[in-house]
Amino acid sequence: MSILSFCEWLQNLGWASGIKHSSWQFPVIESIHSLALSVMLWPAALLDLRLLDVFMRRRPVSQVSAQFLPWIWTGFVVMVLTGVMLFAAEAVKCYNSPFFRMKLVLLAFAGFNAFLFHSTVFRGVELWDKDAPTPRRAKLAGAASLVIWVGVVAMGRALAYA
Ligand code: HEM
Repeated sequence: MSILSFCEWLQNLGWASGIKHSSWQFPVIESIHSLALSVMLWPAALLDLRLLDVFMRRRPVSQVSAQFLPWIWTGFVVMVLTGVMLFAAEAVKCYNSPFFRMKLVLLAFAGFNAFLFHSTVFRGVELWDKDAPTPRRAKLAGAASLVIWVGVVAMGRALAYA
């Protein structure tokens, strides 16, 4: 089965075409998708800014991260769940959209960047927790994360209007 025929099969499922053809389901799910974005994006941006030494420089990185990560994860899980529903409703449109493809690539980069940060420099956070400046690799991870998330949001918006 090709990816395109999978998308056709998916969007013809009863619940997926129900979302597409209902007068309220798609807009409600898209609104939840956008609201969840604000739940995760601000804490993610503030944590990135701490890594970049721009914000809350006197607070230990581990503390800022412990405060914000639950918000980031909650918003992210809701984004993925609602995103999958929106995708199912218009899978062929998404398949044909360069913006959607770019968004998925950027999401993969975001995951890889977070994984790399947590499995390397953040492991030894006790050694630089209260430091300002933070280590270069932490700064790099923070800057990359900011750029990637702005890209994901831009691609999401572009897809909605394309
Ligand atoms: C945390 C990650 C994500 C972010 C930051 C994000 C961001 C956005 C934004 C800003 C919009 C536009 C909403 C609007 O203009 O009203 C959007 C729409 C959308 N997103 Fe996401 N999204 C994410 C995850 C996902 C995932 C994982 C999927 C699918 C697997 C997905 C599928 C969609 C679809 C199908 C739309 C609707 C486009 C349309 O209106 O035609 N999103 N997203």
